[in-house]
Amino acid sequence: MSPSNSKPAANNLDAFFMPFTANRQFKKNPRLLAKAKGVHYWTPEGRKVIDGTAGLWCVNAGHGREEIKAAIVKQLEEMDYAPSFQMGHPKSFELAARHAAMLPGDLNHAFYCNSGSEAVDSALKIALAYQRARGQGTRTRLIGRERGYHGVGFGGISVGGMVNNRKWFGSLLPGVDHLPHTHDLKRNAFSRGEPEHGVELADELERIVGLHDASNIAAVIVEPCAGSTGFLPPPKGYLKRLREICDKHGILLIFDEVITGFGRLGASFAAEKFGVVPDLMTVAKGISNATVPMGGVFVRKHIYEGLMNGPDSAIDLFHGYTYSAHPLACAAASAVLDIYRDEGLFQRAAELSAYWEDGVHSLKGTGGITDIRNLGMAAGIDFESRKDAPGARGYDTFVKAFELGLMVRQAGDCIAMSPPLIIEKNQIDEIIDITGKAIKATA
Ligand SMILES: Cc1ncc(COP(=O)(O)O)c(C=O)c1O
Repeated sequence: MSPSNSKPAANNLDAFFMPFTANRQFKKNPRLLAKAKGVHYWTPEGRKVIDGTAGLWCVNAGHGREEIKAAIVKQLEEMDYAPSFQMGHPKSFELAARHAAMLPGDLNHAFYCNSGSEAVDSALKIALAYQRARGQGTRTRLIGRERGYHGVGFGGISVGGMVNNRKWFGSLLPGVDHLPHTHDLKRNAFSRGEPEHGVELADELERIVGLHDASNIAAVIVEPCAGSTGFLPPPKGYLKRLREICDKHGILLIFDEVITGFGRLGASFAAEKFGVVPDLMTVAKGISNATVPMGGVFVRKHIYEGLMNGPDSAIDLFHGYTYSAHPLACAAASAVLDIYRDEGLFQRAAELSAYWEDGVHSLKGTGGITDIRNLGMAAGIDFESRKDAPGARGYDTFVKAFELGLMVRQAGDCIAMSPPLIIEKNQIDEIIDITGKAIKATA
């Protein structure tokens, strides 16, 4: 049947195979969003829902930004698409120069793709290619971390540390090992900001080097703050220690900043916040405020130059996507940078973060909460699980919050929150109030 003949039945939810969703459960009791503006969504029936998660940690500048819309429309009128293989268009070069100018240290080259997952797989491939180009071709092992999330490509799930994302999909990439995660409830429960304890967990990298030998290890990838397993800020000094160990052994350090990049922590990037410059950085989400899908890998000078070692006519990296540096994404990303700059949103996030911290920690003592963590404009709240039903209470809490007019993110028996950076204090109060009610209701 041609598409024009296949008129779908109204309200038939059957055909869409939803990602990361309990499809049958959802379709019995759907939660639909039909409109968005500022820090709010509206359901198709017109019910207003405050966005406690900036979509999926991505709408940092808030919804429905006219400036971004205008930039996308203008670009669409000028030129809808141009290839990036052996061709170019001005906006991609302009955008890369702008990103380079705002990045810490000598992270000064940008590779573009369309998502966080593509960014991660691109970064892993760039790391491997770089090691080979510098004559260290035995360095093929990749090190990730338990409870890490690096998207859903085969590279990303291999270095990732979430069992459900891995166990269904065969043997994954060979030669991968994992650092232990850093969530230490015994010593660090209810930490405000970076937890005090756990810097020594970075030394586990020495143990891994002792097992495999540094000459076989290409790169280590971590999220500066693990996001998808309930927001885990790094212990004090942990990232610096990882950097030192990587330097000592010639191992590349990759920060996956898909969530932490573009202001979430009250700085442009976690690398800036923590004063630790990785060799490669992956980004997505806030890069385009989620208007047009976009991801990127930022690399340091030595990585870029290390790959430019063949004749001028040789292709430097046999990797890229049809939509790398898509003109609409570049136009959107540039307009987003204007907003971040003109509204000082990263600074705003830094200033608001103390209020946010006090707000989320005021929930201590509510409905069996076992831990509250925060940094910048993000937080994770754990609560007691129901007997023999891990995750069930988390789901019910998420649904209850939605009924009460708040969208949060569920990760097991944990609620993660990361509102748009334009949020106002009274809206933070509302988020905290509804979160408390939802947690109490499911206790
Ligand atoms: C740290 C991190 N890396 C990678 C990804 C994957 O991004 P995407 O869903 O755009 O592929 C995510 C998504 O949440 C993420 O949080």
